[in-house]
Amino acid sequence: MRAERHSVAPGGQTWSEHASRDPSIPLSRNTHLLRWVEKMARLTRPERLHWVDGSREEYETLVAGMLQSGSLIELNQERWPGCYLARSHPSDVARVEDRTFICSYSRDAAGPTNNWCDPYEMRRTLKRLFDGSMRGRTMYVLPFCMGPLDSPMARLGVELTDSPYVVASMRTMARIGLPVFTEIDKEQKRVVPCMHSVGVPLVPGEPDVAWPCNPEKYIVHFPETREIWSFGSGYGGNALLGKKCFALRIASNLARDEGWMAEHMLILGVEDPRGEKTYVAAAFPSGCGKTNFAMMIPPEGFEGWKVWTVGDDIAWLQPDAERRLRAVNPECGFFGVAPGTPWKTNPNAMKTLSRNTIFTNVALTPDGGVWWEGMTDEPPAECVDWRGMPWTPGLSQVTGVKAAHPNSRFTAPAAQCPTIDPAWEDPAGVPISAIIFGGRRSSTIPLVYQAFNWSAGVYIGATMGSETTAAAAGATGEVRRDPMAMLPFCGYHMGDYFRHWIRMQRALAETPRIFHVNWFRKDEAGAFLWPGFRENMRVLKWIVDRVRGRAQGRETPIGWVPRYEDIEWRGLALPREQFDALQFVDREAWRTEVLAHEKLFIGLHDRLPPETIYERELLICRL
Ligand code: OXD
Ligand code: MN
Repeated sequence: MRAERHSVAPGGQTWSEHASRDPSIPLSRNTHLLRWVEKMARLTRPERLHWVDGSREEYETLVAGMLQSGSLIELNQERWPGCYLARSHPSDVARVEDRTFICSYSRDAAGPTNNWCDPYEMRRTLKRLFDGSMRGRTMYVLPFCMGPLDSPMARLGVELTDSPYVVASMRTMARIGLPVFTEIDKEQKRVVPCMHSVGVPLVPGEPDVAWPCNPEKYIVHFPETREIWSFGSGYGGNALLGKKCFALRIASNLARDEGWMAEHMLILGVEDPRGEKTYVAAAFPSGCGKTNFAMMIPPEGFEGWKVWTVGDDIAWLQPDAERRLRAVNPECGFFGVAPGTPWKTNPNAMKTLSRNTIFTNVALTPDGGVWWEGMTDEPPAECVDWRGMPWTPGLSQVTGVKAAHPNSRFTAPAAQCPTIDPAWEDPAGVPISAIIFGGRRSSTIPLVYQAFNWSAGVYIGATMGSETTAAAAGATGEVRRDPMAMLPFCGYHMGDYFRHWIRMQRALAETPRIFHVNWFRKDEAGAFLWPGFRENMRVLKWIVDRVRGRAQGRETPIGWVPRYEDIEWRGLALPREQFDALQFVDREAWRTEVLAHEKLFIGLHDRLPPETIYERELLICRL
């Protein structure tokens, strides 16, 4: 019955008594947790219970089961050690924003950018959906910790799930298992309860399918009671509940109430040739290259510079005792978009995912490896596509079918990243000197500009727009306003969220400098003006130099911009005219842009902080 009966081997989650363990025996004595598990089991009626200890043996047993059932395919273990491939149901490939709900007591608290449903009504719906939903399956009791276990910023959750794929993936993405139960048992700590079911009860005698999921999907958050309920999907963003649901939607509520920030941001450290390190956090919308940016290898001409990775998706930021903003990455794995992750320009990402990785919806090569569009210049002569169908480049030219789904993913341990920062698990977090906002915009928005001050920076983040990608279900390529890249992830009213950002200034002795970048600006012929990838380091250097007071800038109506001579060009022959085109502030286009800001603001007007209105007026005056 007791957690302390079992021992954790030093340096790992190995459990010496594993072989003899009965997984149905609880690993916690927390009475709230035990009662809740019992209640949920009565509701969902699983065939068996499994308390997750997080050990390697347990993981291997889970994987063996999934290989046997066909949920996982083993890759060539010599070339891809510890790597497996999952193929989802073709309808379950991305987050489902129209099925994601913030069920606060009042509709107004959720705001117009979230789907709201009356919490009492939603509880009735969930009760109906979860009633018997785990029949014939195992209910896993999966404890997890977001943030380093010894960090004061860490938060605990328990996910009850009927998906072994979720348990295996969560082992990579979060700290799980026995050490977390030990934390939960200390002082009967509060945990965020997370219910998850793929919503496909098993009928006796009928075989299971490789990727069970239900056409009816509900991703539900109760912000006041800090609860998450997810039904019908096995896809990471909908089912790994520590990630978007907890670390962003619920955590944004916690952060607002407690004076910190839960943001959709990567964290990286830039080391200059003097050995000085500057940490920055960057918010780009889903599918805009956060993972690549976080693992960037500086290009030619940047000898002595190095980029260190702390996180690729989520940052929890909090003022320390000196009122300096510090950040932790609540996750310990990367759930990255595979297409566009290139061998040639991002070997760091490739080395990270070359072992102990679960791939989802990528293509399978004849030698038991994986491939996706953009991984190599030349596609393989043949492979099996993400739906399990034969694929050749010729066939693709005719049908347009991609070998890998555009939102195919890798789930890889962060510790395997060759550039993982030595301080990435520092319980105090790393000090943040700059915040970068960015979007995918083919026109109007310059390569880089710096906000005049914090409130101008908040305005820039609040009005961020980006062309949509495959990370969420729906049309791609349309500009949508995505404030701070948090549109799908802010668990309360967006106007209150802007207020919270403005308010944070008062908690800080010195605010991080705020910048905006756009790698995706195109010329009239539709060609990208900026080479991107490693060359983004040139922009990052200017940002770091500005923060350190070493770089010049020129004032424009929208903020400070680098002059041509302020950028390091060694190793890249980018003509001055091309740079001018990249940085051009087209006043006409900006007027149209400001009108689009207004469209977002109209919906939020009764809760907008006055600073956003003033900043908008100032911007209009300058234009
Ligand atoms: C993600 C997303 O998976 O933003 O990180 O969709
Ligand atoms: Mn993301």
